[in-house]
Amino acid sequence: MATFDYSGTKDQIPGLLLALQEDVDLINRGTTGAIYDAGAAAMNGVVAVVGLGERLFSDHYAGGRWPNHLAAMPFTERDELAPHQVGGAIILLVAASTPEASLATLRRLQNGHQSLLARRWLQSGYLPTPDPLVGVSRNVLGSLDGLANPKPGRTAWERCLWVTEEDDEVPWMLGGTYLVARKIEVDLDAWDALPLAEQEALVGRRQADGVVTGAGRPSHVEVARSAMFGPLPMLRRSFSYSDGGAQGLLFAAYSRNPSVQVSPVLTELSQRDPLNAFVRHVGSVVFAIPRRLPS
Ligand code: HEM
Repeated sequence: MATFDYSGTKDQIPGLLLALQEDVDLINRGTTGAIYDAGAAAMNGVVAVVGLGERLFSDHYAGGRWPNHLAAMPFTERDELAPHQVGGAIILLVAASTPEASLATLRRLQNGHQSLLARRWLQSGYLPTPDPLVGVSRNVLGSLDGLANPKPGRTAWERCLWVTEEDDEVPWMLGGTYLVARKIEVDLDAWDALPLAEQEALVGRRQADGVVTGAGRPSHVEVARSAMFGPLPMLRRSFSYSDGGAQGLLFAAYSRNPSVQVSPVLTELSQRDPLNAFVRHVGSVVFAIPRRLPS
């Protein structure tokens, strides 16, 4: 993924969004076009998605209507965010079966727009092949990640992801969603020094098969669950990353209303998550992902 500042005028925005949409349509032809299904990307080649961030609206549409949740993400006392890894006007998300394919696609999307888009943050990530039994991948901690997610094709998936008329949103967000992403560095030396039973108690699931453990003290899973209000979960599609010797999780959650579905969980985890001793949050963004970019 890559985030950008926008340095053009308001009048140039529709032309830029049209060009990006046309390019994305070409790239996604022949795929499912759904970034939310990283598995599909691995099978079908390349998937690209464009999102719009708070800076685009605060700088150019101050008096108009914005998507409702661009400021949904709370910052917490534990955050150690690098300024370039926060915010932005535009995000380009590309998933592909090889890193070179995704980087080349990112370049292709930016090309021709260099005078309007200045890159803030480029973050690569990877997803190991999913475990064949449970269909999800292991994260850098070695845990199966994504087990509690809503499943494609089920009602919960539809209801948790896509903005509907009930959401009272700008019309072009109907059928769209929001991305909340956090770059979370993990102290793997400290983590790997723990006995397996302790790791499992902190996560709240067995390492081998993801079965929920009851350790008698709060685990990551229990604390996350305790802060999920109402029937709508978020869809977590996190990637692992490794750069400059640091490793961690590029946590990515999709939801139709991140203020309700994601923010409370993040706040609660920042206070009580037993994994906090091993992690530092160093990046945080929220972007609106319309089904098609507004013209
Ligand atoms: C380094 C950071 C993190 C790691 C390693 C991690 C890992 C995991 C793992 C292994 C699970 C259990 C398997 C599963 O259901 O996917 C899980 C569950 C979950 N995590 Fe995280 N997570 C991290 C950060 C976060 C953050 C920042 C949030 C929210 C803002 C979050 C929200 C959740 C939720 C909602 C669940 C499902 C709970 C349930 O219903 O069982 N996680 N996480």
